[in-house]
Amino acid sequence: MRDILEKLDSRRAEARLGGGVKRIEAQHQKGKLTARERLELLLDEGSFEEFDMFVQHRCVDFGMDKGAKPPGDGVVTGWGTVNGRKVFVFAKDFTVLGGSLSETHAQKVRKVQEMALRTRAPIIGLYDSGGARIQEGVASLAGYADIFKGNVDASGVIPQISVIMGPCAGGDVYSPAMTDFIFMVRDTSYMYVTGPDVVKTVTNEIVTHEELGGASVHCAKSSIADGAFDNDVEALLQIRRLIDFLPSNNRDGVPEWPTADDATRREASLDTLVPDNANQPYDMKELILKVVDEGDFFEISEKFAGNIVTGFGRVEGRTVGFVANQPMVLAGVLDSDASRKAARFVRFCDAFEIPIVTFVDVPGFLPGTAQEYGGLIKHGAKLLFAYSQCTVPLVTCITRKAFGGAYDVMASKHIGGDVNYAWPTAQIAVMGAKGAVEIIFRGQTPEEIEKRTREYEERFLSPFVAAERGYIDEVIMPHSTRSRIARALSMLRSKQVERPWRKHDNMPL
Ligand code: HXC
Repeated sequence: MRDILEKLDSRRAEARLGGGVKRIEAQHQKGKLTARERLELLLDEGSFEEFDMFVQHRCVDFGMDKGAKPPGDGVVTGWGTVNGRKVFVFAKDFTVLGGSLSETHAQKVRKVQEMALRTRAPIIGLYDSGGARIQEGVASLAGYADIFKGNVDASGVIPQISVIMGPCAGGDVYSPAMTDFIFMVRDTSYMYVTGPDVVKTVTNEIVTHEELGGASVHCAKSSIADGAFDNDVEALLQIRRLIDFLPSNNRDGVPEWPTADDATRREASLDTLVPDNANQPYDMKELILKVVDEGDFFEISEKFAGNIVTGFGRVEGRTVGFVANQPMVLAGVLDSDASRKAARFVRFCDAFEIPIVTFVDVPGFLPGTAQEYGGLIKHGAKLLFAYSQCTVPLVTCITRKAFGGAYDVMASKHIGGDVNYAWPTAQIAVMGAKGAVEIIFRGQTPEEIEKRTREYEERFLSPFVAAERGYIDEVIMPHSTRSRIARALSMLRSKQVERPWRKHDNMPL
């Protein structure tokens, strides 16, 4: 009997070595942890339960039947907990055949995908892989497609998170692309459909891995990734932090954590946040940080379309999604990128029953051929559609400008805002005073224009015309914003909205 137990121990020890000591050292030399080391950091200590540790590939082509058959086949899968809450995981093991995806590797990933969906728990994938197992051909492609389908089946039911921690190429990119969030590790991870060699052959472009698909590209240019971290350790600790904000599934509701931060806390400094000069910027993140519990805000997609801020915070210990125009970047204007970014975030929140707080200071949509040719109408419509579709509580607060169509789009009363506040500094109008007067009073003398501009400012550049019509529920003191939002969210917890039956909507993709 003891022999048998010892054999299990030694088989486990062998499996835990993955591709062997030399390849583990090579992994460390590249500044990367191994798949199992990563899972240890991601999950609560001792909580990881591994599945399919002894699975091996079944490939017989290209001498694969004669070579080593490393147990685990390039991916470590199982489940564990993050601060006591169940999550499913898979981590590509680059030390085994470059973490490439074989038929059996795909079956392991599918097993945890299915288990996560069946038990309604989040799934986190850690990527470090050379793509399709070249020796396996179509069996590998089939495996990818099975995983893609699994992603789609789980979308909107359980949170799916991808962390790119090494190469992620070819077939490996599309599964992350269908998950809710992608994060990367700076300098050691890259993501692309075809690598620099293929790019050179096809387009004659010469690019490095980093230039083609590094964190700087995907966080700031393509918007494929939602954030990047300096190293594996920081990335995994931040994913733990993110998990704490997210519900386990679309039915359980947001997690609730104890907080020592008083919901009625007043922030006197907010009374002077908006500068006297309407064209002077201020940092909208200051407002978010002063409203959320303990100043804890997890920003999503910080480096892309900085003119809109999206991310998670908590109020009274419960997760809230924040969407806010940022006057510090392009005066907070809505352009195609900002609209797409916010629309995707709003849809995530709505799918997972996370209430949304919207802070508005928007001069309108960005004019110009670049925007129009780039489909501003369709991208702007995405955000309009996403908000209009929400059934989660929507609390909106206009701090300064809410001009034109952008006023409608930013969770206005008309498209479903439940509680719409404005600060006394709010200006709700079709457009800014000067532009408006120059159109209505074209050809008038400069003196007349100036007089009319003052008239327009007095009449329209305030929250009161909208408040007189009930479009704004109340004009509030900036210092009381946190407590007003907390009360509104608490009142809205029992919100219920019925939508007419349909197979699915046809949002402007
Ligand atoms: C089998 C692979 C592999 C793969 C790497 N390896 N990629 N084995 N299939 N796709 C193996 C290597 O043979 C090597 O084995 C070990 O993994 C480490 O690889 P290295 O090349 O030594 O590592 P490194 O120098 O760090 O380079 C990493 C890399 C490179 C850039 C990812 O390995 C690479 O270019 N791989 C091929 C990428 C690729 O073209 N994949 C197919 C994409 S097509 P040993 O035994 O020496 O340790 C695709 C289509 C699917 O995915 C589409 C579905 C929709």
